[in-house]
Amino acid sequence: MSVHDLRPGRDTDAEGFIALIGACWAEYPGCVLDIDGEVPELRALATYFRDQGGMLWAAERDGRVIGMVGTRPLKDDAAWEICRMYVDGAARGIGLAADLLRTAEDHACAAGAERLVLWTDTRFTRAHGFYEKQGYVRQGSIRILDDISNSLEFRYAKPARGLVVEALDAAAAASAERRLADLLVACVAEGASLEFLPPLSRDRAIAFWKQTSAAVAAGSRVLLVAWRDGVMAGSVTLDLATAQNQPHVAAIQKLLVDPGARRAGLGRALMRRAEQAARGHARRLLSLDTRAGSAAGALYRAEGWHELGRIPGFEVDAAREPCDTVFFWKSL
Ligand SMILES: CC(C)(COP(=O)(O)OP(=O)(O)OC[C@H]1O[C@@H](n2cnc3c(N)ncnc32)[C@H](O)[C@@H]1OP(=O)(O)O)[C@@H](O)C(=O)NCCC(=O)NCCS
Repeated sequence: MSVHDLRPGRDTDAEGFIALIGACWAEYPGCVLDIDGEVPELRALATYFRDQGGMLWAAERDGRVIGMVGTRPLKDDAAWEICRMYVDGAARGIGLAADLLRTAEDHACAAGAERLVLWTDTRFTRAHGFYEKQGYVRQGSIRILDDISNSLEFRYAKPARGLVVEALDAAAAASAERRLADLLVACVAEGASLEFLPPLSRDRAIAFWKQTSAAVAAGSRVLLVAWRDGVMAGSVTLDLATAQNQPHVAAIQKLLVDPGARRAGLGRALMRRAEQAARGHARRLLSLDTRAGSAAGALYRAEGWHELGRIPGFEVDAAREPCDTVFFWKSL
């Protein structure tokens, strides 16, 4: 639910929209707003969105537009674009941007969107961090606008609803590092056995995911991510860097699901997609390990993994007490 007062955007907001966009662009060197030459639709933006089957919103404070966002269906209707997302510099850090985005996403979902996409200038680094926090990942190549600002744009996207698992390429993996770090920190904090001990710093968690992105780029690891209703809430990796005499083997690592999203099928969906990815890489034998007594063990048994045995005291828990590690394998 939106905590800020948003209302439909109107054509008569043109002056406010132009002032807001102009101020946001002015924060980045080289970004020049040429309304009549390049974005004449800003003079009647509500009509522009309505004519495309989309919608526009504005946030106002003391009669001044301080935020805006629009959304419109793309050609196939299954994907909707989030556009014109701007928040005044003085209205940042209060959740307004998240409210605006959620309002546009909810509208697109209600209209049947299965995928949400957006384009953002490669210079707008603060915006990238915001979209990444909201579960968007980089997708595809950079778009060159050939405009007077010499704009290059990243495409970001995410599944809009339902439970969806996707493999991330190197660019997408890099854009997911911070969100995945937050998930890893949360899982380690509640005592998960993921080769780290609490308190795990965010920097250390980000460093781990950076290594993973590099391994994805090198082709030695597969990174799968799960979204539930547009929220990135889980991950698993498949390590392909096995010994020369094990070309048919792969290891499952870092299966983790947001503590707030457990028992909703994400773990199972991630494991099944990991097995599919293993088959795709001609890996017929999988291995993994987990702490004895963990919820993960129940999941692995339910998914047909064989318990090989346990090594007593192979790891320590959050209280630094030794505990057993159980090893599993599965033939595909
Ligand atoms: C293990 C983990 C990934 C499971 O994720 P999840 O999304 O909750 O799992 P699912 O909802 O897909 O559960 C699938 C099945 O696994 C079993 N399972 C999962 N959690 C369980 C629990 N806490 N107790 C008993 N069985 C459980 C059940 O058979 C479940 O099926 P059901 O819900 O129909 O009964 C999650 O608990 C987690 O992230 N734990 C912390 C990280 C961790 O330990 N990772 C493993 C490292 S090896």
